[in-house]
Amino acid sequence: MAGLSSSSIGRKYAMALSAMFLLIFLILHLTVNLLSVVSPGSYNVASDFMGYNPLVQFLMQPILGFAVIFHFVMGFILEIRNRNARPIKYGMNNGNANSTWMSRNMIISGLVVLAFLGLHFYDFWWHEINFKYIQGNPLDSERFYGEIHAKFADLWRVVIYVVSFVLLGLHLAHGFQSSFQSIGARHPKYTPVIKALGTWYSILIPAGFILIAVYHFVTQ
Ligand code: HEM
Repeated sequence: MAGLSSSSIGRKYAMALSAMFLLIFLILHLTVNLLSVVSPGSYNVASDFMGYNPLVQFLMQPILGFAVIFHFVMGFILEIRNRNARPIKYGMNNGNANSTWMSRNMIISGLVVLAFLGLHFYDFWWHEINFKYIQGNPLDSERFYGEIHAKFADLWRVVIYVVSFVLLGLHLAHGFQSSFQSIGARHPKYTPVIKALGTWYSILIPAGFILIAVYHFVTQ
């Protein structure tokens, strides 16, 4: 790792750990939301649990919130430091020859996902906070399916979500294997397996989210 100070290795390591945590979160998040496609009743049960269990609400959610914010802030810091350390711009350095578009544009795909999260939090997270804590509505464990279904009635929202999921896929296509590299998991035998897993992950996870958004739109 010539040229990298120990603190920059530490930053990359911390970035990778937050990424891995978010990779696991996405699997869980997709699994719960896919229930809305296959079994509305099970989706209601799962959402009721996730939305009202104190351990999920007051321990897991703050940890998740911290991981999301940490990942974005650290991403910006690493990007700025990399830019300052890079003497020649990639464009002039024939970037295509030794790196992919995805790896060179993590900040762009990341910014699109960040913008998506703004809308997404307004759509779902803020809705929950408002419903439960501001309006103080009583528990209604049957409401969740109707709410998610109604959200995807607007074509503009479905389009924004789908475009964001494609960019999320590009972000994951590099991010998955990069996070393993950053924690030092490099091995002639396992690196190709990690890369293949990353490719499948970055296709299947966004495809699953796209399926949910499109399914609710076409079944209105
Ligand atoms: C069609 C796709 C998706 C649907 C239907 C969906 C649905 C939801 C729902 C229902 C919540 C719960 C809000 C709450 O109870 O507080 C939520 C929260 C959240 N979603 Fe999504 N989501 C989707 C895609 C994504 C993606 C791709 C990401 C990340 C890139 C994401 C990140 C989050 C985060 C970070 C939260 C906050 C969790 C929390 O409540 O603490 N979601 N989403």
